Amino acid sequence: MTLADVIPSLRSSLPPRGLDRELWPLTTEHGRGGISVGGVPLMEIEQEYGTPAYVLDEADVRERCAAYCAAFGPAQVVYAAKALLSRGLLRWIDEAGMGLAVYSTGQWQLALAAGFPAERVVVHGDVDARGAGRVVIESAADIARLTCTRRPQRQKVMLRLLPAQLGFAKAGLPACPSQDRFGVPTDGAELAELVEEITSNPLLDLVGLDVYLGSQLAQFGGYEHAITQLVAACADLRRSHGVHIEEINLGGGFAVAHTGQETTLPVDPFAARMRRVLALACDRASVQPPRLSVTPGRAIVARAGVALYRVLAVRHEQGHQLVAVDGGLSDNPRPALYGARYTAVLVGRPSTAATVPTTVVGRHDEAGDVLVRDEPLPDDLRPGDLIAVPGCGAYHFPLASNYDLVGRPPLIAVRDGQARVLVRRETLDDVLRRDEA
Ligand SMILES: Cc1ncc(COP(=O)(O)O)c(C=O)c1O
Repeated sequence: MTLADVIPSLRSSLPPRGLDRELWPLTTEHGRGGISVGGVPLMEIEQEYGTPAYVLDEADVRERCAAYCAAFGPAQVVYAAKALLSRGLLRWIDEAGMGLAVYSTGQWQLALAAGFPAERVVVHGDVDARGAGRVVIESAADIARLTCTRRPQRQKVMLRLLPAQLGFAKAGLPACPSQDRFGVPTDGAELAELVEEITSNPLLDLVGLDVYLGSQLAQFGGYEHAITQLVAACADLRRSHGVHIEEINLGGGFAVAHTGQETTLPVDPFAARMRRVLALACDRASVQPPRLSVTPGRAIVARAGVALYRVLAVRHEQGHQLVAVDGGLSDNPRPALYGARYTAVLVGRPSTAATVPTTVVGRHDEAGDVLVRDEPLPDDLRPGDLIAVPGCGAYHFPLASNYDLVGRPPLIAVRDGQARVLVRRETLDDVLRRDEA
């Protein structure tokens, strides 16, 4: 029992249950006007922009960028655009001096349109990205695509390796078994053949090795294991082809907490440990240490995001509260895709009611459309209430869909008491206009 349970009047002046610093954006405050982020009360955002909406704390994103840059060096932090991308966000990433990993032509073109320096972009996949800093090669087909174009250019490339015993996800997302993914095993003939093909091509300059171990990895072990294998591959490449690998990239997947039961991977101890493991492995293999880089996505933007929903209906049954909201699967498919868990709080009005286990379901009437399961919320929720879900900055906005022909929510940045639209709400007109028959 907490003090607020004994003296209910204290409730609205204390952070609500679950308002855990690890889960909520850096600038979150809980005062008389309810919960605010970036100095803007969430109630005001709802009044101005409606629900569902994604709110993004600029200070939180910039702080996460600064923390990763301090730990690895700005040029060694390559933000994974797939976690969240908008022009506004690109400016913050650029100003931090970081790199950018893109996975589609759309992401590449948005980066160019926003003036992001092409030489700091790392390209993955089938993207026509002339002038990009580095391109990641996963198979011989990527080499053909890069070099058999009409106006081929000299290009720095990295090779995607698949180390044995990849790190496995602890929570939220499934592991990434190597049989389901492209890349080259760290030992064996395929690696030698691909390296031969790259090094014998005057248009390609092999500068790095790259891995991607999985998502929501909260432990260091998988990454340590990967470094050891990457360094062994560096030693082999130097012996067999006289190639010096300048950079090894550990990918992303650094865990972020969405509920009090999850943990966030701590960046400083992680970076320090990885550097020690790298130094030791290079020393043992007599290899000149390459630069160590990372490609974090969620670790940069997840905590900065809060999703806002309006309560549509409430039902009570045997000490449990069931709440339906005006969003769901179409703006957050992660619970359905990965069994991801979230927490929520009531915002906009104080409540002195006791909390009960509450499940928040979406509007789509599907088995997997459960945003929050069995989290404590005041048991007097009613239609019209506003609830906020933290930890929604990564893989929400980019994974949103028009399921049931709903428009996708806006992305609203908050900073110093000001809210501004990064990406507007998709109107019904936007959604219906594509249907041309
Ligand atoms: C190749 C690659 N790198 C980096 C990331 C970023 O992962 P995270 O957002 O978990 O850090 C992903 C995400 O799927 C990825 O596929």
